[in-house]
Amino acid sequence: MTGTNETRRKVFLGLMGGAAGLAFAGGAKAGALVDDSSKVFRLDGGGSTYAFGVNAEGQLQSLYWGAALGAGDKLPAAVMVEGNSSNEVPIAVTPYEFAGFGGGLTTEPALKVRFPDGVRDLDLRYTGHQVRGEKLLVQLKDVKRAVHVALTYAMDEATGILARSAVVENRTGSWIQVDQMAAACLNLPYSDDYQLSFLSGRWAGEFMLQTRAVTPGAFFVESRKGVTSHQSNPWIALSRNTTGEESGPVWFGALGWSGSWRINVEMDAMGGLHATAGYNPFDFSYRLKPGESLASPVFYAGFSNEGFGGASRIFHRYQREKILPNAPAPRLRPVLYNSWEATFFDVDEAGQMALAEKAASIGVERFVVDDGWFGARNSDKQGLGDWVVNRKKFPNGMGPLVKHVNALGMQFGLWVEPEMVNPDSDLYRAHPDWVINFPGRQRSEARNQLVLNLARKDVCEHLLKVLDELVSSNNIEYLKWDHNRTWSEPGWPEAAPDEQQRLYVAYVDNLYRLLAELRRRHPKLEIESCASGGGRVDLGIMKLTEQVWTSDNTDPYDRLVIQDGFTQAYAPAIMMAWVTDSPNFVNKRVTSLEYRFLSAMQGGLGIGANLKHWNQDDFAKAKRLVQEYKGIRATVQLGNLYRLVSPRNGAPRSATLSVSQDRKQAVLFAFLHSSMMRSAQPMIQLRGLDPGAVYALRAISGSAAPGTPARASGAYWMGRGVKVALEGDFQAAAFVLEAQAVS
Ligand code: GLA
Repeated sequence: MTGTNETRRKVFLGLMGGAAGLAFAGGAKAGALVDDSSKVFRLDGGGSTYAFGVNAEGQLQSLYWGAALGAGDKLPAAVMVEGNSSNEVPIAVTPYEFAGFGGGLTTEPALKVRFPDGVRDLDLRYTGHQVRGEKLLVQLKDVKRAVHVALTYAMDEATGILARSAVVENRTGSWIQVDQMAAACLNLPYSDDYQLSFLSGRWAGEFMLQTRAVTPGAFFVESRKGVTSHQSNPWIALSRNTTGEESGPVWFGALGWSGSWRINVEMDAMGGLHATAGYNPFDFSYRLKPGESLASPVFYAGFSNEGFGGASRIFHRYQREKILPNAPAPRLRPVLYNSWEATFFDVDEAGQMALAEKAASIGVERFVVDDGWFGARNSDKQGLGDWVVNRKKFPNGMGPLVKHVNALGMQFGLWVEPEMVNPDSDLYRAHPDWVINFPGRQRSEARNQLVLNLARKDVCEHLLKVLDELVSSNNIEYLKWDHNRTWSEPGWPEAAPDEQQRLYVAYVDNLYRLLAELRRRHPKLEIESCASGGGRVDLGIMKLTEQVWTSDNTDPYDRLVIQDGFTQAYAPAIMMAWVTDSPNFVNKRVTSLEYRFLSAMQGGLGIGANLKHWNQDDFAKAKRLVQEYKGIRATVQLGNLYRLVSPRNGAPRSATLSVSQDRKQAVLFAFLHSSMMRSAQPMIQLRGLDPGAVYALRAISGSAAPGTPARASGAYWMGRGVKVALEGDFQAAAFVLEAQAVS
């Protein structure tokens, strides 16, 4: 142990500049505290403390994760847990930070390897640690063989979000094969009332919040699909029976990985809870030659004592300040127009110019041409992969449209789906070997397309070249980067047979590299992550993309539920939402233009309606609401979100409140599904305002019930609340509260 023989020594991290001396909830200072005598490591940040230690066997064991402890509180040294009978080896019930498969471990291993001689036993023991700036690094090594693991712990001072990851290095003289690898294991002590929440879904129904009791046994959420997936998102939260939206403990975590992933939550025989997150072991294998290493993704974990609302607010803050491009000051999302739902593949220069003029007239700031502008792309059956402008649709290239759009005062953006190819394309005809495949086996198509193998260097070089040329050729300031199918036949025939399964990691690593290099070459370029809607939303891709396409489902009522689930994990700063046509194509539901706007104004606003069908009144309403949106978007996108009334489970009403960081502005959105039985309207109590400030209330759309004061204190709005006058079906209202200057 580094400094084992030294007398007790403390190392503080993260005490930088003005932040030095900041007191946290428990009075401790932000950073890492290492107690060499008891071998206890403690990290403090935000309102939480995380602690682990080295036990007598030299194994790294969790000690505490939760609300901030007092500065002087000393955690007892780590001791292995005893089972309730001698038939249970302690290793099966001890909460490890990062356990190897070996020594009798029967809970989920963080790392499982096989050696050339058939041994599959890995027993990781502590060898040292260092403090590097804001990070705490801990080294482990197998008791006998030169398999080394480096763990990284980075505790965010402001939010208490802990970023954990691991690197395994093969320093043996021959290969080792990694069969399973996690970023981290997080542990909680026994309690009989834990609840597990997670986000599941499908195309047009992403981010559905599920909650169930944690019972004995294991439960995992995962993607086996090569991409983050619609079906399950890599976020979980653990709470107690007593936890609510604004009170009670929530422990949460999200894996920053855009490939196949798994988060395993299990209760051991003594009731201890373990959450292990990392690469999905499904079909996983990664062979390391001597000297090679494999890094895990990062698992971001946090704790809040203020319920799901508090948990999501600190996580949103972390994303804005630490993850998003331009963090800690991510750029505001411009209002965009996209004609996908209006024209589908039927795009051409004249039609797009006409739409651009209409879009500009209502205040749109970014005009995006979606699918259909390239190659022989007249449907989803052909052309994908051929990133050259279709000269039948755009006879003079994209230049004239881009110039027109820019002259109208808007940025220009394009849809691309670089990772895919239609078999009916010039690219596939020239390079049939470039797709993920097993030789001599079927190449299963989905949406008539195959997946290019980004693990291949030549494929990545090609994509970088064509995308670089595309973005350089015109003033393209934005790409909507799509990914419209999951994987099948995940083969990489050009790699040695025992290295082919590296595909799962190499593909995603190269995708990240490709995006990073494109951004480096084009610093102005912004990118949206889309995968048939919200199939690739995670903290890995989020580092490289300013925004995400939340769902192809643009039904404004469905969106309320999707957005409610989305914001449990991810910031409104990235959540794009469009106003499209009514009836909406998904449910054929008819809603007013105001309702559609108010639903979409809770995220990054886009317009996806066919503007050719709008009348003067529609344009006037849209222009006004776009203008209103610009006045509140900083609060909506970068403020604190309070999910006041959830739309889940068919609730008749729902409401959200966004409060700016300085508490000077707040925006209330309220929705009614349908009036029933002449029931009374409840008051909506606001949150997060400055109780002593006076706020003026102004309706953006709809109205408050008669008698609502025009101004009142924050205490009034939070105590008495606002009654919103909503009657009928699919009704909505929005209000802005502005803090009044003290005279
Ligand atoms: C996906 C996207 C849509 C649209 C189409 C184009 O489905 O989610 O928004 O871009 O592809 O083919």
